[in-house]
Amino acid sequence: MSEPVLLEIADAVAWITLNRPEAMNALNTATRDALPKAIRAAEADPAVRVIVLRGAGERAFCAGADIKEFVEVPSPAEYRQSRVHDSWIRAFDETRKPIVASIHGICLGGGLEIALACDIRIAAEDALIGLPETGLGIMTGVGGSQRLPRVVGLGLALDMMLTGDRLSAARSREIGLVTRVVPRAELHAATAALAAHLAARPPMAMALAKEAVRAAMDLPLREGMRLEVDLLTLLLNTEDRLEAARAFREKRKPRFSGR
Ligand code: COA
Repeated sequence: MSEPVLLEIADAVAWITLNRPEAMNALNTATRDALPKAIRAAEADPAVRVIVLRGAGERAFCAGADIKEFVEVPSPAEYRQSRVHDSWIRAFDETRKPIVASIHGICLGGGLEIALACDIRIAAEDALIGLPETGLGIMTGVGGSQRLPRVVGLGLALDMMLTGDRLSAARSREIGLVTRVVPRAELHAATAALAAHLAARPPMAMALAKEAVRAAMDLPLREGMRLEVDLLTLLLNTEDRLEAARAFREKRKPRFSGR
Protein backbone atom coordinates (compact mmCIF):
# COMPACT_ATOMS: atom_id res chain seq x y z
CA MET A 1 0.00 0.00 0.00
CA SER A 2 1.33 3.45 -0.84
CA GLU A 3 1.99 6.03 1.85
CA PRO A 4 -1.02 8.27 2.58
CA VAL A 5 1.22 11.32 2.92
CA LEU A 6 4.49 11.98 1.10
CA LEU A 7 7.26 14.27 2.30
CA GLU A 8 9.91 15.37 -0.18
CA ILE A 9 12.52 18.00 0.57
CA ALA A 10 14.28 19.93 -2.20
CA ASP A 11 15.94 23.34 -2.23
CA ALA A 12 14.76 24.30 1.28
CA VAL A 13 11.14 23.45 0.44
CA ALA A 14 9.26 20.55 2.05
CA TRP A 15 6.61 19.29 -0.35
CA ILE A 16 3.94 17.44 1.60
CA THR A 17 1.52 15.57 -0.63
CA LEU A 18 -1.81 14.07 0.40
CA ASN A 19 -1.50 10.81 -1.47
CA ARG A 20 -4.85 9.04 -1.81
CA PRO A 21 -5.83 10.20 -5.28
CA GLU A 22 -8.24 7.25 -5.70
CA ALA A 23 -10.28 8.73 -2.81
CA MET A 24 -9.72 12.37 -3.79
CA ASN A 25 -7.17 12.57 -0.97
CA ALA A 26 -9.92 12.20 1.64
CA LEU A 27 -8.62 12.29 5.19
CA ASN A 28 -8.83 8.81 6.67
CA THR A 29 -7.26 7.80 9.97
CA ALA A 30 -3.93 6.92 8.36
CA THR A 31 -3.75 10.33 6.67
CA ARG A 32 -4.66 12.16 9.84
CA ASP A 33 -1.87 10.27 11.64
CA ALA A 34 0.72 10.89 8.95
CA LEU A 35 0.00 14.53 8.12
CA PRO A 36 0.98 16.11 11.47
CA LYS A 37 4.08 13.87 11.53
CA ALA A 38 5.14 15.17 8.12
CA ILE A 39 4.51 18.78 9.19
CA ARG A 40 6.51 18.28 12.40
CA ALA A 41 9.35 16.57 10.52
CA ALA A 42 9.52 19.52 8.11
CA GLU A 43 9.39 21.99 10.97
CA ALA A 44 12.24 20.20 12.77
CA ASP A 45 14.49 19.90 9.70
CA PRO A 46 16.94 22.82 9.55
CA ALA A 47 17.26 22.37 5.79
CA VAL A 48 13.59 23.32 5.36
CA ARG A 49 12.50 26.94 5.19
CA VAL A 50 9.06 26.61 3.63
CA ILE A 51 6.38 23.93 3.68
CA VAL A 52 4.00 23.30 0.78
CA LEU A 53 0.89 21.19 1.07
CA ARG A 54 -0.75 19.75 -2.05
CA GLY A 55 -2.91 16.88 -3.23
CA ALA A 56 -1.87 14.02 -5.51
CA GLY A 57 -3.75 13.24 -8.71
CA GLU A 58 -5.64 15.33 -11.20
CA ARG A 59 -8.93 15.83 -9.43
CA ALA A 60 -8.52 17.05 -5.87
CA PHE A 61 -6.51 18.86 -3.27
CA CYS A 62 -8.60 17.09 -0.64
CA ALA A 63 -12.26 16.00 -0.47
CA GLY A 64 -12.41 16.31 3.32
CA ALA A 65 -12.95 13.64 5.94
CA ASP A 66 -13.19 10.10 4.61
CA ILE A 67 -16.95 9.59 4.67
CA LYS A 68 -16.55 5.83 4.23
CA GLU A 69 -14.89 5.67 7.64
CA PHE A 70 -17.89 7.38 9.22
CA VAL A 71 -19.87 4.18 8.94
CA GLU A 72 -17.00 1.77 9.54
CA VAL A 73 -15.98 2.89 13.02
CA PRO A 74 -17.85 1.41 15.97
CA SER A 75 -18.86 4.71 17.49
CA PRO A 76 -18.86 7.81 15.31
CA ALA A 77 -19.53 9.97 18.35
CA GLU A 78 -16.45 8.61 20.10
CA TYR A 79 -14.41 9.01 16.95
CA ARG A 80 -15.36 12.62 16.44
CA GLN A 81 -14.80 13.38 20.10
CA SER A 82 -11.25 12.05 19.83
CA ARG A 83 -10.65 14.32 16.87
CA VAL A 84 -11.65 17.34 18.93
CA HIS A 85 -9.41 16.46 21.87
CA ASP A 86 -6.33 15.23 20.10
CA SER A 87 -6.40 17.76 17.36
CA TRP A 88 -3.90 16.81 14.69
CA ILE A 89 -4.39 20.22 13.12
CA ARG A 90 -2.36 21.73 15.97
CA ALA A 91 0.80 20.76 14.09
CA PHE A 92 -0.01 23.54 11.64
CA ASP A 93 -0.39 26.18 14.35
CA GLU A 94 2.85 25.10 16.01
CA THR A 95 4.85 25.57 12.82
CA ARG A 96 7.01 28.67 12.62
CA LYS A 97 7.88 28.15 8.97
CA PRO A 98 5.57 29.53 6.28
CA ILE A 99 3.08 26.95 5.02
CA VAL A 100 1.58 27.27 1.54
CA ALA A 101 -1.56 25.40 0.45
CA SER A 102 -1.41 24.66 -3.28
CA ILE A 103 -5.02 23.90 -4.19
CA HIS A 104 -6.38 22.29 -7.34
CA GLY A 105 -9.76 20.73 -8.04
CA ILE A 106 -11.89 19.67 -5.09
CA CYS A 107 -11.13 21.32 -1.75
CA LEU A 108 -13.99 20.50 0.56
CA GLY A 109 -14.64 20.16 4.27
CA GLY A 110 -11.49 19.10 6.09
CA GLY A 111 -9.59 19.94 2.90
CA LEU A 112 -10.58 23.57 3.30
CA GLU A 113 -9.90 23.40 7.04
CA ILE A 114 -6.34 22.26 6.30
CA ALA A 115 -5.93 25.02 3.71
CA LEU A 116 -7.21 27.55 6.25
CA ALA A 117 -4.56 26.35 8.71
CA CYS A 118 -1.89 27.24 6.13
CA ASP A 119 -0.50 30.77 5.78
CA ILE A 120 -0.89 31.37 2.04
CA ARG A 121 -3.44 29.76 -0.27
CA ILE A 122 -2.70 29.59 -3.98
CA ALA A 123 -5.31 27.94 -6.21
CA ALA A 124 -5.65 26.65 -9.74
CA GLU A 125 -8.52 27.97 -11.85
CA ASP A 126 -10.31 24.61 -11.48
CA ALA A 127 -10.52 24.78 -7.68
CA LEU A 128 -13.91 24.21 -6.08
CA ILE A 129 -13.92 25.18 -2.44
CA GLY A 130 -16.57 24.68 0.21
CA LEU A 131 -17.76 23.27 3.51
CA PRO A 132 -20.41 20.58 2.83
CA GLU A 133 -20.48 19.21 6.40
CA THR A 134 -23.84 20.61 7.51
CA GLY A 135 -25.47 18.73 4.63
CA LEU A 136 -24.12 15.52 6.17
CA GLY A 137 -25.66 16.42 9.52
CA ILE A 138 -22.32 17.39 11.03
CA MET A 139 -20.03 20.41 11.03
CA THR A 140 -16.38 21.33 10.81
CA GLY A 141 -14.15 19.92 13.55
CA VAL A 142 -10.61 21.18 13.07
CA GLY A 143 -11.04 24.93 13.08
CA GLY A 144 -13.11 25.67 9.97
CA SER A 145 -15.87 27.50 11.82
CA GLN A 146 -13.28 29.61 13.63
CA ARG A 147 -10.72 30.28 10.91
CA LEU A 148 -13.12 30.89 8.02
CA PRO A 149 -14.77 34.00 9.55
CA ARG A 150 -11.32 35.31 10.41
CA VAL A 151 -10.34 35.03 6.75
CA VAL A 152 -13.52 36.02 4.88
CA GLY A 153 -15.69 37.65 7.58
CA LEU A 154 -18.74 36.46 9.46
CA GLY A 155 -21.34 36.90 6.71
CA LEU A 156 -19.51 34.94 4.04
CA ALA A 157 -18.45 32.27 6.54
CA LEU A 158 -22.05 31.71 7.63
CA ASP A 159 -23.18 31.63 4.00
CA MET A 160 -20.58 28.95 3.17
CA MET A 161 -21.15 26.89 6.33
CA LEU A 162 -24.94 26.88 6.10
CA THR A 163 -25.40 26.45 2.34
CA GLY A 164 -22.46 24.11 1.71
CA ASP A 165 -22.08 25.88 -1.65
CA ARG A 166 -18.84 25.33 -3.55
CA LEU A 167 -17.03 28.48 -4.61
CA SER A 168 -15.03 28.81 -7.81
CA ALA A 169 -11.38 29.84 -7.68
CA ALA A 170 -12.31 33.28 -9.02
CA ARG A 171 -14.94 33.81 -6.33
CA SER A 172 -12.55 32.50 -3.68
CA ARG A 173 -9.97 35.02 -4.83
CA GLU A 174 -12.56 37.80 -4.80
CA ILE A 175 -13.39 37.20 -1.13
CA GLY A 176 -9.80 36.60 -0.07
CA LEU A 177 -10.25 32.92 0.70
CA VAL A 178 -7.31 32.31 -1.61
CA THR A 179 -4.92 35.11 -2.49
CA ARG A 180 -3.55 33.87 -5.82
CA VAL A 181 -5.18 32.05 -8.75
CA VAL A 182 -3.28 30.61 -11.69
CA PRO A 183 -4.16 28.37 -14.67
CA ARG A 184 -4.19 24.68 -13.71
CA ALA A 185 -1.15 23.88 -15.85
CA GLU A 186 0.85 26.57 -14.07
CA LEU A 187 -0.04 25.68 -10.48
CA HIS A 188 3.08 23.66 -9.77
CA ALA A 189 5.47 26.22 -11.26
CA ALA A 190 3.70 29.13 -9.55
CA THR A 191 3.74 27.30 -6.22
CA ALA A 192 7.42 26.42 -6.60
CA ALA A 193 8.25 30.05 -7.45
CA LEU A 194 6.30 31.32 -4.44
CA ALA A 195 7.98 28.76 -2.18
CA ALA A 196 11.43 29.66 -3.51
CA HIS A 197 10.70 33.34 -2.93
CA LEU A 198 9.66 32.66 0.67
CA ALA A 199 12.62 30.32 1.25
CA ALA A 200 15.08 33.04 0.24
CA ARG A 201 13.77 35.48 2.85
CA PRO A 202 15.14 35.72 6.41
CA PRO A 203 13.63 32.80 8.39
CA MET A 204 13.38 34.57 11.74
CA ALA A 205 11.53 37.50 10.20
CA MET A 206 9.19 35.07 8.47
CA ALA A 207 8.48 33.24 11.74
CA LEU A 208 7.91 36.31 13.86
CA ALA A 209 5.91 38.22 11.25
CA LYS A 210 3.70 35.16 10.91
CA GLU A 211 3.30 34.98 14.69
CA ALA A 212 2.31 38.67 14.86
CA VAL A 213 -0.26 38.49 12.04
CA ARG A 214 -1.81 35.29 13.36
CA ALA A 215 -2.06 36.82 16.85
CA ALA A 216 -3.82 39.88 15.39
CA MET A 217 -7.08 37.94 15.20
CA ASP A 218 -7.00 36.98 18.87
CA LEU A 219 -5.54 40.00 20.67
CA PRO A 220 -6.94 43.44 21.47
CA LEU A 221 -5.20 46.10 19.35
CA ARG A 222 -3.10 47.47 22.19
CA GLU A 223 -1.78 44.03 23.18
CA GLY A 224 -1.18 43.12 19.56
CA MET A 225 0.86 46.27 19.04
CA ARG A 226 2.86 45.50 22.15
CA LEU A 227 3.57 42.00 20.82
CA GLU A 228 4.60 43.51 17.49
CA VAL A 229 7.19 45.76 19.10
CA ASP A 230 8.52 42.88 21.21
CA LEU A 231 8.93 40.70 18.14
CA LEU A 232 10.53 43.52 16.17
CA THR A 233 13.00 44.03 19.02
CA LEU A 234 13.97 40.38 18.76
CA LEU A 235 14.52 40.78 15.02
CA LEU A 236 16.68 43.85 15.52
CA ASN A 237 19.12 41.57 17.32
CA THR A 238 19.52 39.05 14.51
CA GLU A 239 22.49 38.58 12.20
CA ASP A 240 20.15 38.36 9.25
CA ARG A 241 18.89 41.89 9.64
CA LEU A 242 22.50 43.14 9.56
CA GLU A 243 23.16 40.95 6.53
CA ALA A 244 20.11 42.47 4.78
CA ALA A 245 21.34 46.00 5.46
CA ARG A 246 24.93 45.18 4.39
CA ALA A 247 23.75 43.49 1.20
CA PHE A 248 21.65 46.55 0.36
CA ARG A 249 24.63 48.85 0.85
CA GLU A 250 26.95 46.56 -1.12
CA LYS A 251 24.35 46.12 -3.91
CA ARG A 252 24.38 42.32 -3.71
CA LYS A 253 21.90 39.60 -2.86
CA PRO A 254 21.67 38.82 0.88
CA ARG A 255 22.47 35.35 2.20
CA PHE A 256 20.37 34.62 5.24
CA SER A 257 21.55 32.15 7.90
CA GLY A 258 18.42 32.09 10.06
CA ARG A 259 20.33 33.59 12.99
N1 COA B 1 -14.54 10.30 1.60
C1 COA B 1 -14.29 9.11 1.04
N2 COA B 1 -14.21 8.90 -0.27
C2 COA B 1 -14.37 9.97 -1.07
C3 COA B 1 -14.63 11.25 -0.58
C4 COA B 1 -14.69 11.40 0.84
N3 COA B 1 -14.88 12.60 1.43
N4 COA B 1 -14.77 12.11 -1.61
C5 COA B 1 -14.59 11.38 -2.73
N5 COA B 1 -14.37 10.09 -2.40
C6 COA B 1 -14.13 8.97 -3.33
C7 COA B 1 -15.43 8.47 -3.91
O1 COA B 1 -16.06 7.60 -3.02
C8 COA B 1 -14.94 7.79 -5.18
O2 COA B 1 -14.35 6.56 -4.89
P1 COA B 1 -15.09 5.16 -5.30
O3 COA B 1 -15.29 5.26 -6.77
O4 COA B 1 -14.11 4.12 -4.88
O5 COA B 1 -16.35 5.14 -4.51
C9 COA B 1 -13.80 8.71 -5.62
O6 COA B 1 -13.39 9.42 -4.46
C10 COA B 1 -14.23 9.70 -6.67
O7 COA B 1 -15.35 10.41 -6.18
P2 COA B 1 -16.74 10.49 -6.98
O8 COA B 1 -17.82 10.84 -5.99
O9 COA B 1 -16.96 9.28 -7.81
O10 COA B 1 -16.44 11.71 -7.96
P3 COA B 1 -17.45 12.86 -8.41
O11 COA B 1 -16.69 13.70 -9.37
O12 COA B 1 -18.75 12.31 -8.82
O13 COA B 1 -17.69 13.75 -7.08
C11 COA B 1 -17.08 14.94 -5.08
C12 COA B 1 -16.61 14.35 -6.41
C13 COA B 1 -15.85 15.38 -4.30
C14 COA B 1 -17.99 16.13 -5.36
C15 COA B 1 -17.86 13.88 -4.28
O14 COA B 1 -17.06 12.71 -4.22
C16 COA B 1 -18.21 14.31 -2.89
O15 COA B 1 -19.18 15.03 -2.68
N6 COA B 1 -17.42 13.86 -1.88
C17 COA B 1 -17.69 14.15 -0.51
C18 COA B 1 -17.16 15.51 -0.14
C19 COA B 1 -17.56 15.87 1.28
O16 COA B 1 -18.72 15.95 1.61
N7 COA B 1 -16.55 16.10 2.14
C20 COA B 1 -16.74 16.49 3.50
C21 COA B 1 -16.81 15.32 4.39
S1 COA B 1 -17.18 15.80 6.05
